Amino acid sequence: MLLERLEPVWCLPETGETFDRVAVFGRTAPLVIDIGIGFGDTATTMAAHDPSVDVIGCDVHTPGIASTLARIESMGLTNLRLLHGDALVFLDRFEPGSLAGIRIYFPDPWPKARHRHRRMTDEVNVNRFAELLEPGGFLHVATDISDYVAQTQRICDAHPDLNGGVIDRPEWRPVTRYERKGLAAGRPITDMWYVRRGS
Ligand SMILES: C[S@@+](CC[C@H](N)C(=O)[O-])C[C@H]1O[C@@H](n2cnc3c(N)ncnc32)[C@H](O)[C@@H]1O
Repeated sequence: MLLERLEPVWCLPETGETFDRVAVFGRTAPLVIDIGIGFGDTATTMAAHDPSVDVIGCDVHTPGIASTLARIESMGLTNLRLLHGDALVFLDRFEPGSLAGIRIYFPDPWPKARHRHRRMTDEVNVNRFAELLEPGGFLHVATDISDYVAQTQRICDAHPDLNGGVIDRPEWRPVTRYERKGLAAGRPITDMWYVRRGS
């Protein structure tokens, strides 16, 4: 089976020792974590487009991981690895200041007020993201949910180490599978780009 054959080759353990990029990628290139890759269309396209950057795409969804593994193999990608598990647990394997970027494209919306604490951009997670970014590293969030935009802006704008806000949709970001659903439903898309202060 595809998952049994490819998961041991391309997927990383969710927990364990501090992440060793040389052991995994064989080099020390800028490292980006992509949280919630779905079926992997966007993560694989972006990895192929910029081979100078190493990317770890994370998702808990098994069919999505299987689809992404098939793409990695068919596209011959060497700069993309996967986490089949919880990205928020996996982040414990990274040292502060070790990431060039964190992407969160169309996170699960959790629209009900009592579920808002599950959103990716709550205070606790944004603090962790900021700490993990190297100076100049980016947090790029895209969503079609207006109060997700408001929450992300409120929390990131208030963070002392982050600088940024809403940007025009970058042409280089592929339209994702979930973004297409939002567009079809007439929802506007918002991209937010925050950079870790410092040099
Ligand atoms: C709405 S989908 C968006 C997928 C893709 N980014 C897109 O735009 O088409 C959100 C994805 O995040 C994943 N996800 C949610 N929480 C996660 C977590 N803690 N760790 C890894 N993936 C997570 C879900 O399984 C789902 O595939």
